[in-house]
Amino acid sequence: MSTVRVLVTGAAGQVGVDLVSTLRGEVPPGADARWQPDGLAVGSDEFDVLGVTRHELDLADRDAITRVLGLTKPDVVVNLAAYTAVDQAERDVEACYAVNATATGLLSEACAALGAHFVTISTDYVFDGEKGSGYREDDVPNPQGVYGASKWAGEQRCRVQDTIVRTSWVMGVRGKSVVHVIANRAESGSTVRFVDDQTGTVTCAADLARALVTVVRERPGGVWHVANEGTTTWFDLARFVGRELGRGDEFATPITTAELSPAPLATRPRRSDLVTAKWRSRWAALPDWHEGVARLLRDRAAS
Ligand SMILES: NC(=O)c1ccc[n+]([C@@H]2O[C@H](COP(=O)([O-])OP(=O)(O)OC[C@H]3O[C@@H](n4cnc5c(N)ncnc54)[C@H](OP(=O)(O)O)[C@@H]3O)[C@@H](O)[C@H]2O)c1
Repeated sequence: MSTVRVLVTGAAGQVGVDLVSTLRGEVPPGADARWQPDGLAVGSDEFDVLGVTRHELDLADRDAITRVLGLTKPDVVVNLAAYTAVDQAERDVEACYAVNATATGLLSEACAALGAHFVTISTDYVFDGEKGSGYREDDVPNPQGVYGASKWAGEQRCRVQDTIVRTSWVMGVRGKSVVHVIANRAESGSTVRFVDDQTGTVTCAADLARALVTVVRERPGGVWHVANEGTTTWFDLARFVGRELGRGDEFATPITTAELSPAPLATRPRRSDLVTAKWRSRWAALPDWHEGVARLLRDRAAS
């Protein structure tokens, strides 16, 4: 079997670092070494991995996209680079669209020209959160903020044969995410207030990385929802993290979105949990979020 060359953009981001390690046959912190959705262990020489950071490939530079892909000739491109600052995006619309929409389209086109498969990551924030139950792949997007709208615009610039993985509430041992904010507060003896009226699905970066390895192998095309099993609210997540770190129920207090001060610039969906039935009909489900977050906290403490 010949080695598959995979180019990963956003390689220094929280999913990027875990995906590059996983494709190299390593077990990144926070990962379950025994779990792989297609049941096949990752060989250390199965993939030739090229992880590129913004320094090596700035997606705002359209010529660089064609040049880097032309020079490296990947079989598969996984696009993890994104403008992810949800609130800042409200005031930085052009820069956000340049990466999340325009560059996604350019990468898709460059892959088509090379005969490479294109995988890009999108978000639950493409939905308005007003459906009242979890979102499936064929539900109609109606983003509420600039970030979600830019990611939806990126999806629309993809070709039908590309694979779009929508994920949500991503957190890893490495990189920045709310789980580290909560854990730091729990460890320092302080308390937190988190909203209990936004529901979603947590996705542990190391589990998502394993799912993406399966996507790279099988190149399914189309839209796929990928998240850990179970839904939660930000308050419920904070309380769980507190308990795992030995804090009592006084650690986390539930509040409403209306009580947030200052009010965030971007509107978030009230309920945007992703239904993963399509994924589960083909491959193994991602572990329950409690298990994934407990693993993350264990390896965070060790690292
Ligand atoms: N985080 C979440 O909760 C979440 C939820 C749903 C979907 N997603 C999606 O999942 C994917 C991975 O997210 P993540 O959590 O790993 O994000 P992340 O940690 O913010 O990483 C994104 C990476 O993209 C890079 N980047 C930004 N602008 C770039 C540019 N112009 N050229 C090249 N690289 C650029 C960033 O580099 P710098 O550090 O230099 O800025 C960063 O390393 C993204 O598509 C994101 O939209 C994330």
